[in-house]
Amino acid sequence: MEELQESELGSQEYWDNRYKEEIENFQDHGDPGEIWFGEDTVERLIKWIEKNETATKESKILDVGCGNGMFLIELATEGYTNLFGVDYSKDAITLAKSIAQKQGFEIQYSECDILEHLDGQFDIIHDKGTYDAISLNANIKEFRGKYLENVHKALDPNGFFIITTCNWTKDELNEHFRNHFVCVDNIPTPQFQFGGKTGNTVTSLVYRKI
Ligand SMILES: C[S@@+](CC[C@H](N)C(=O)[O-])C[C@H]1O[C@@H](n2cnc3c(N)ncnc32)[C@H](O)[C@@H]1O
Repeated sequence: MEELQESELGSQEYWDNRYKEEIENFQDHGDPGEIWFGEDTVERLIKWIEKNETATKESKILDVGCGNGMFLIELATEGYTNLFGVDYSKDAITLAKSIAQKQGFEIQYSECDILEHLDGQFDIIHDKGTYDAISLNANIKEFRGKYLENVHKALDPNGFFIITTCNWTKDELNEHFRNHFVCVDNIPTPQFQFGGKTGNTVTSLVYRKI
């Protein structure tokens, strides 16, 4: 299996420094920071959840590597009430909590390295750019196993795992995930670039537990 070239985006230090700056921007100008892969992508993901017959406004939804939490803010805006976000960067969680508080939403955020553990059971687990970031670490081979094991364990047997990536194709993800998840849908996405690669197509895929 071919891996990506290591990059600083695969290290916690990078994200800690980045969110420190984003907290300052939020405090100074109210700017929540980056919407990874753009608002179009977020809209399409939320539309998919809204159309899904088994998802309700009370579905328990976890965003892994939630960053500033803007995906969960969009879900809260649409009336979803059972929302959780985890990130290993303490500053990301501080930023996400400040944004949710300012907007008057109750979202449960906690600091957590998803490669260490993921507690609870969720109807939907969402990842936008987090597996991409993890894939840019030199230890990806070991990390991939931990990521898959923890996400698989935390997903309800009838739940959905939705992942958006710009570094992997559908075939590659299917190959990485084949012992844990099966792909059940492909959400159309616009073009974007990330992590040194240009012209990549963003891929949003929906998986169910094997
Ligand atoms: C590209 S950003 C995406 C942030 C957010 N999902 C979004 O779409 O705006 C990747 C995020 O993954 C987080 N992350 C990377 N590795 C992680 C890990 N092992 N555990 C928890 N969070 C992690 C980073 O701190 C960062 O917030």
